Amino acid sequence: MKKKLLSLLLSAVMVASMVMVPVMADETEGAAEDAAAAVDLEGVDVENATIGISIYQFADNFMTLYRTELVRYLTEDLGFKEENIQVQDGKNDQAEQTNQINNFITAGVDVMILNLVQSSSAPQVTDMCNEAGIPVVYINRQPTTEESDRWVAEGIKATYVGADATQSGTYQGEEILETPNGGDINGDGKVSYIMVQGDPENIDAQQRTEYSIKALTDAGVEVEELLLQRGDWDQAKGQQIVQDALTQFGDQIEVVFCNNDAMALGALQAIQAAGRTVNEDIYLVGVDALTEAVQDIVDGTFTGTVFNDHFGQAQAAAQMAVKYLKGEDVDPINMVDYVKVTADNAAEILEKIQ
Ligand code: BGC
Repeated sequence: MKKKLLSLLLSAVMVASMVMVPVMADETEGAAEDAAAAVDLEGVDVENATIGISIYQFADNFMTLYRTELVRYLTEDLGFKEENIQVQDGKNDQAEQTNQINNFITAGVDVMILNLVQSSSAPQVTDMCNEAGIPVVYINRQPTTEESDRWVAEGIKATYVGADATQSGTYQGEEILETPNGGDINGDGKVSYIMVQGDPENIDAQQRTEYSIKALTDAGVEVEELLLQRGDWDQAKGQQIVQDALTQFGDQIEVVFCNNDAMALGALQAIQAAGRTVNEDIYLVGVDALTEAVQDIVDGTFTGTVFNDHFGQAQAAAQMAVKYLKGEDVDPINMVDYVKVTADNAAEILEKIQ
């Protein structure tokens, strides 16, 4: 039930291009039912419609939450049949995923929802789907603007649902600026940091890396980058990178920026093993608002994160698929807002995501 309530609250912050009817926060079961009812399914054969979903990698913590909500919403709230929804694991291998998409085409699914392994494969995948007459909703990994402009120019039924990664990066930077010493723990007039990056092919990784630091420099803060290393969104890699960095740079490191919470949770293990204390002699920020990370903020062992609204994104993606099933056109880009998470609101966010 809580999840339904959350989706209601979140739907209210979705941008204007969403098909969802904004429902004001109303903590009643009735309102939750109304939210699903607000999606107009008239003209959609929910009993028989088939949906092909491929997730870049099931092992990804964040995409697991996303996938769970996507299937829950499609079946429980919208009434699609579980047996008509195929969900594939792309296993972080584009060739494997392209095969899955070909199988969806052969099976003649009515619509696809795709989290590409490589967003650079969007032009090829879009053409495959378009030639087969199957609309596609891309999620989480944004194709280039050139590609989404092409969908519009050529009237291709393809769309993207995601979140503006510049916003999440900016929020991370602001969280550091909002600490008592603005991130300058040793008072030497500059913020010395390490950056643990996701897969650099993703816009999310590129923009979070850039905009977190830009928030500091825009505020007139001097920064020093001690290290920038890719951790591919992975907790174990995050831990290793930060362990090595702490050995190499020691007390010089004032802030650890991680492009996601999985890597930040790995970073926290390394920080604690090195005898350092978050929010006292080092700051740590991530993105996603994984339950464990938000709990750590409540406990004071994590500085901040940014809620990457998988409820809102999953529901918007499903709603785009519904529009396609109804033969309607949709906007090419559909963004859902991020939410800053710090000690001020962590308990409240935790309550909503659990
Ligand atoms: C999330 C990461 C995730 C990635 C997958 C990002 O938006 O923040 O946690 O690994 O998407 O593409």
